[in-house]
Amino acid sequence: MGFNLQTLARKNILTLQPYRCARDDFTEGILLDANENTHGPSVAEGVTSNLEFNRYPDPHQVDFKQQFVDFRNSEAAIANAPVSNVGLAPLTPDNLCLGVGSDESIDALMRCFCHPGRDKLLICPPTYGMYDICATVNDIDIVRVPLFPDFSLNTEAIITAVTSDPSIKLIYLTTPGNPTGKLLDFERSIAPLLSLESWNGIVITDEAYVDFSPVGSSLSPLVTKYANLVVLQTLSKSFGLAGIRVGITFADEAVSRILNNIKYPYNISCLSADIAIKATTPQSIKLMREKVNTIIGQRDVLVNELLAIKGVGKNIGGLDANFVLLVIMSDESASAVPSNEVAQLLYTKLATENAVVVRFRGKEIFCEGALRVTVGTEAENRTLVEKFRKVLGEIYASK
Ligand SMILES: Cc1ncc(COP(=O)(O)O)c(C=O)c1O
Repeated sequence: MGFNLQTLARKNILTLQPYRCARDDFTEGILLDANENTHGPSVAEGVTSNLEFNRYPDPHQVDFKQQFVDFRNSEAAIANAPVSNVGLAPLTPDNLCLGVGSDESIDALMRCFCHPGRDKLLICPPTYGMYDICATVNDIDIVRVPLFPDFSLNTEAIITAVTSDPSIKLIYLTTPGNPTGKLLDFERSIAPLLSLESWNGIVITDEAYVDFSPVGSSLSPLVTKYANLVVLQTLSKSFGLAGIRVGITFADEAVSRILNNIKYPYNISCLSADIAIKATTPQSIKLMREKVNTIIGQRDVLVNELLAIKGVGKNIGGLDANFVLLVIMSDESASAVPSNEVAQLLYTKLATENAVVVRFRGKEIFCEGALRVTVGTEAENRTLVEKFRKVLGEIYASK
């Protein structure tokens, strides 16, 4: 007998297909593949010089949490906020749990609420790939209820699924979606899931991109109203801080307590905490908003310029995030159809011969021929459009 990795490791881990990061294929050039903020962080000051690296970091990070709930409370209090907190208890630090990016929060929820090998979770493809990976690692089966082809939520089908299968404990929704870029309608499509008498589970809305949607769109203020709503956010996108790995979970106090109880005590390093606190002062948030507004302005310019290129079909996604989802056609004729072959060739040639990296998403449901393009700086976008036009023209000419 003796050591045998094949029989020792859990089967679901041995056969796991790990998450394919945008950077697994290409690491250099104009990187518009991972929906980062290429304008960089909006931190007014630098890193504190006298951090005590010999001490463990604060496990609770109450200063950061207070600043962050102040930020979301104030957005929800503005007149005509899409999600208002009028009449609701304001968010407090007790509603928050921090993670090493929202990726950790995605996993923590599964560990809290799903028994391995027994329970299930529900996702709505096309969606973010980590739900699938974390579910597999945790030995949790996945029920898939695809979005409609216009990327809105099929609430009725979700209700049917969860009410007929009590082993489904979690529903992961992404709003705005990735790769869809589309904000989900709360009243029509999410609220009915929160008031189901016949289902005991939690609805998670992943809002990684919510700051690129109209101000006040976040559902986070509603966790003081709905005990079964959990909202995930991150500093990786609008705040331009993907490198420090800070994710924020908003939940009812009782749920938040459980999440905090299972968290590794020192998951947020003192370096990350230092930057996170500085990035969320009112002054830094103002800078963040300015950069976000620039990106939103550039998003419109970029999508129009790309759509003007022959062979670029249409933007099938919404315009609520910091990326667009464009369909590449088989040829330039009126009878052209979306083509994964051309999209993949364009993607590869852009990356290998032109130092411009975008993301191929054509294998996802309702995404035939689709490339996801992150909105970059004005200069990056200009280069991207130029190269896109040139390479696509060459591909069609050589057919
Ligand atoms: C929908 C969605 N959720 C979560 C994440 C992960 O974010 P973080 O960097 O906070 O782990 C991403 C990253 O691309 C994402 O697209």
